[in-house]
Amino acid sequence: MTENQNTPIYTGDIAAQHLEPEREYTTENQEISFSADQHAIWADLFAGIHQSYLLEHICQQFKDGLKLLELDPLHIPAVAHLNEHITPRTGWHIERTAVRYTLADDWYKKFAQRIFLITDYLRSRDQMEFTPEPDMFHDIFGHLPYLTQKFYAAIEDKFAPAYMKATQDEKEVIKRLAWYSTEFGLVIEDNQLKVFGAGTISGRAELANTIMEFYRLSRDNVVDYTGNLFEQIQDLFQSHKDNIYRIIDGVNELHRQGQMSSQENGWNVVHSLYKKLGIERDGYFSGEVIIAPFDVETIARIPKTVYAFNPMFFVCESFEQMDALLDSYLKPIAMRN
Ligand SMILES: [Fe+2]
Repeated sequence: MTENQNTPIYTGDIAAQHLEPEREYTTENQEISFSADQHAIWADLFAGIHQSYLLEHICQQFKDGLKLLELDPLHIPAVAHLNEHITPRTGWHIERTAVRYTLADDWYKKFAQRIFLITDYLRSRDQMEFTPEPDMFHDIFGHLPYLTQKFYAAIEDKFAPAYMKATQDEKEVIKRLAWYSTEFGLVIEDNQLKVFGAGTISGRAELANTIMEFYRLSRDNVVDYTGNLFEQIQDLFQSHKDNIYRIIDGVNELHRQGQMSSQENGWNVVHSLYKKLGIERDGYFSGEVIIAPFDVETIARIPKTVYAFNPMFFVCESFEQMDALLDSYLKPIAMRN
């Protein structure tokens, strides 16, 4: 990262900011103009991910939504374009915000009104492969194709009503559930692992690493793609649960020390954790991440980690299953008096 006014230096987690009405965009000034450079960055980001060898590993619903959204590959879209393509289909509205990383409390207040905020900030040229900070490309390209899809709107509809009534501890779990589903979740489609999360889709480095993991699992004979994939992942998870929980405790410790947020240390911190715990890096544990079935109890234990060092990814058997598992935690909270 270079030091200039547009690229802040991160020393830890990204600082979330409150929405301040006096600084925010109004309904009249949602459209802003972008420089030729910014449009060019958008075009390169778009072209970098819009490749058949990458798209084939992203779930069908994303690709269906991307078509419906009719994004211009060469230009950053207007908010009006996004709303014309989204609101009639799912009732969600897109609003521009001046905040780069919105606090969850403010974010979910907007969610309760079916408003999805997109930041006015676009990453710089030196962050084409990865940025820890969700920028406009992440918000628009990663999330908004899905907001044309009823199943996704229904998933997003679940979070705010629960968040509003949750205790502080439950709020942390809710943020993690969102993180490991809509941001970094995986789903099975035709017995294949597919990328679902917007965080993975909008970052070429994380997307490519995730896809490598899919190949590695079969290359190292961890799974056999000719058999029932989800059952195999469930069996692997069950038989390695003790070590997975030791790893999660270790990740929590690293997180408390700020080491899971350090771009410089990267994966080395996780590799040395395996070493410290005496866990052999072979078979299920030989990749860069552990792929486990989406499980609320496990997700509740693992921190949100920025800088693309998610030590675990969680996979759902289907979107129906994702829906049911999210409901199992969120609905009882939302229905509280
Ligand atoms: Fe996001």
